[in-house]
Amino acid sequence: MSIPDLPANTTLSGLSVLITGSNVGLGYHAALLALQLGASPVYITTRTAAKGETARASLLADPVVKEKNPKAVIKVYELEMTTWESVTGFANKFIADRKAAGEGLDIAILNAGIANMDYELAPTGNEMVLQVNHYSTALLSVLLLPLLESSTNPAHTARLMIVTSGSHLSTSLKANPPQDINYLASLNEARGYQAMDRYGLSKLILIFFLRTLSEKVSSDKVIINNVCPGMIRTELGRKIPWYLKPVFWLMQARQVNPIEKGAACYIHAIASVGKESHGLWFSKMKLTPYAEVVTNEEGKKLQPRIWKETMQELEKAVPDIGSKI
Ligand SMILES: NC(=O)c1ccc[n+]([C@@H]2O[C@H](COP(=O)([O-])OP(=O)(O)OC[C@H]3O[C@@H](n4cnc5c(N)ncnc54)[C@H](OP(=O)(O)O)[C@@H]3O)[C@@H](O)[C@H]2O)c1
Repeated sequence: MSIPDLPANTTLSGLSVLITGSNVGLGYHAALLALQLGASPVYITTRTAAKGETARASLLADPVVKEKNPKAVIKVYELEMTTWESVTGFANKFIADRKAAGEGLDIAILNAGIANMDYELAPTGNEMVLQVNHYSTALLSVLLLPLLESSTNPAHTARLMIVTSGSHLSTSLKANPPQDINYLASLNEARGYQAMDRYGLSKLILIFFLRTLSEKVSSDKVIINNVCPGMIRTELGRKIPWYLKPVFWLMQARQVNPIEKGAACYIHAIASVGKESHGLWFSKMKLTPYAEVVTNEEGKKLQPRIWKETMQELEKAVPDIGSKI
């Protein structure tokens, strides 16, 4: 399915935007499009300062940015999502800097993610894909919420957009897991780890979390939604084993859209849709139903459980995390 164009009058003029994982891929192109549409300041996060400065220079050198947004400000922040300390360190510094400068944050796009296949534990003790795609993204959402809420004004409601994936539609999770286990903790075990399933499962779990978050936060304060840009050729497959790369390339060759179109999906979710999008999922700009396991009776029981288990885990990083929502 091809992705439509953004409405011609789309603008982000006067709005500040944070985008995680913006040195390459969709994050970089979303930052570029946001700048071309007038956003400033644009805060980009990268795992090292050097990657951030390279991206910053390249974004500022873009001819459209130079012409349409000549005074654009881009600020680089380091963010490594495999450790709690880096996520909380980034959030604390980012929020303190905004307060010191008397600035808010109009839009947060949580884009950074991985599709690694080899089983690996992050320094937190959680399985790596789950840590980066779910736990650290969830933690960032909660930590950024107060700043976003305080930035809402009569002219603009703050936005939190999380990048998920259509791969959440076809995971191994079809029903509520046994009640006598901590389900999320059980996913850290090497036994039972399914490499092909984990990426989609991490996004499915993040969707459960996002749905509860959007029930707890009024859309008058922050509009929360999530997006899949469809299959886009990026560096996401970099850690896919060599023997699976041909399958991946074939999928991309058959379904792929240009990366600029993928970035436009992000902008659509933060600029073209409003409060009606709160808690909902857009696939290639189209409002799309979640997987049945999210919305059926099993999903209704699983959702609060995922929220509770996630918040318990996030307390390891920030003991009073619950008080932020
Ligand atoms: N491409 C697709 O077809 C597709 C489809 C649906 C959804 N998505 C989602 O789109 C988002 C962007 O992916 P992409 O396709 O643009 O992939 P990408 O080119 O690999 O970009 C991923 C970004 O995330 C950053 N990142 C990775 N691990 C990180 C960590 N531990 N801490 C902080 N940042 C980290 C990367 O930084 P480094 O360069 O330093 O690793 C990079 O900036 C992901 O959430 C992905 O799941 C992609």
